[in-house]
Amino acid sequence: MHKIAMLGTGLIGMFYTMTLHAHRSRDRVHIVCARDEAGLERFARTWDIPHWTTRLEEAINHPEVDVVVVALPNNLHEQAVIMAAEAGKAVLCTKPLGRNAAEARRMLQAVEKAGVFHGYLEDLAYTPKTLKALKSAQNGALGRILWARSRETHPGPHSDWFWDKAQSGGGAIVDMGCHCIEISRNFIGKEVRPLEVMCWADTQVHPIEAEDNAVGLVRYASGAIGQFEVSWAFRGGMDLRDEVSGTEGTLWLNHWLRTGFEMFTSVGEGGYVAEKAESDKGWLFPVGDEIGSLGYTDMFADMLNALDAGTAPMETFYDGYVVNAIMDAAYRSAESKQWEPVVLEDWRGSDEIGADVRLKDYDAEHFLIKEEIMPDGRTKLILKEKVSGHVVQKITG
Ligand SMILES: NC(=O)c1ccc[n+]([C@@H]2O[C@H](COP(=O)([O-])OP(=O)(O)OC[C@H]3O[C@@H](n4cnc5c(N)ncnc54)[C@H](O)[C@@H]3O)[C@@H](O)[C@H]2O)c1
Repeated sequence: MHKIAMLGTGLIGMFYTMTLHAHRSRDRVHIVCARDEAGLERFARTWDIPHWTTRLEEAINHPEVDVVVVALPNNLHEQAVIMAAEAGKAVLCTKPLGRNAAEARRMLQAVEKAGVFHGYLEDLAYTPKTLKALKSAQNGALGRILWARSRETHPGPHSDWFWDKAQSGGGAIVDMGCHCIEISRNFIGKEVRPLEVMCWADTQVHPIEAEDNAVGLVRYASGAIGQFEVSWAFRGGMDLRDEVSGTEGTLWLNHWLRTGFEMFTSVGEGGYVAEKAESDKGWLFPVGDEIGSLGYTDMFADMLNALDAGTAPMETFYDGYVVNAIMDAAYRSAESKQWEPVVLEDWRGSDEIGADVRLKDYDAEHFLIKEEIMPDGRTKLILKEKVSGHVVQKITG
């Protein structure tokens, strides 16, 4: 059993606590910390948490606590992680790890220097659909991954600090691009080096300094492209979708809207429907098991099982650092309008993997480009002559 200090009782602190206390779990939130005293006590009583405090150091250093969960605004992650590392506690930090790669690297160095367990709470890499899809991709069902597209869009975040660049580190890219980038990295392969990024970002709607819309392409050493699409101005709820294409297969995942539960009500549901739902009337897309569908259940199981087993979880602070480095390149590209290199001062993957265009033999003289059955039942073959390099076609059957 682990006794956990939960730092933050906002949207994510609540989802995390709900998850940790679900399903007759052995692990418990033992102390909770937030800024607002009245809300804190209410939160602690709702979730049956014995201690609460407004002081981060008191929660982290509580003598019975062995795991610290950082669910605070982005500008407080580094400070909280360093305090937890210095206290010798296991530390799990929400996304994004840092506001930029420099912060994320200092956090990685702090936990590694202290020798404490660390996990990057990237829930969307753990949704049940994603875990199953990743297994298929890792088993080779899609062949070589060519393109991994991930989209997160909604009408904008729920707290003031997200909208203030100084506290958040950026807009939709830092808030949601981090999810999309890590989903793509998991499909493309974490050992494959991200090389460069091309990104468009703009503030299309809101009176803020940060971007509320962005689209980016991340080019990997294998030749694969990771594509992220993020928006704080999308209307109609929260759209979480992934598409993965490989040389041998395709995957499409829809995690939130139209997942098979559709409902109409003329009078209204009377409150909360699902995260970022814009209405409780009309056609609704509720979600049966919200904490499961968003990946929190499998994520905490992996984190705490790995802690017990003395192994690393699927998502570590190193992953958080790589994601931050990719986002830094995205911001540079949005300014320069050029491909910008991903700067990784600490690269632990492979440098052997290169873009690999495999040539398929058709016969001794030709490579096969494409084969297609035509409406008249005959088969058309598009071939490349090995010696001349000419492209020719041949009809059989
Ligand atoms: N899917 C996800 O993984 C996901 C979803 C939402 C948010 N997040 C991340 O979680 C973090 C928090 O986001 P949120 O949506 O819960 O924000 P929020 O605004 O809902 O809650 C923030 C919490 O931090 C507390 N807090 C702020 N300053 C504090 C201080 N100085 N000392 C102690 N407590 C303090 C507040 O009291 C509040 O409880 C962010 O890093 C965000 O990016 C992750």
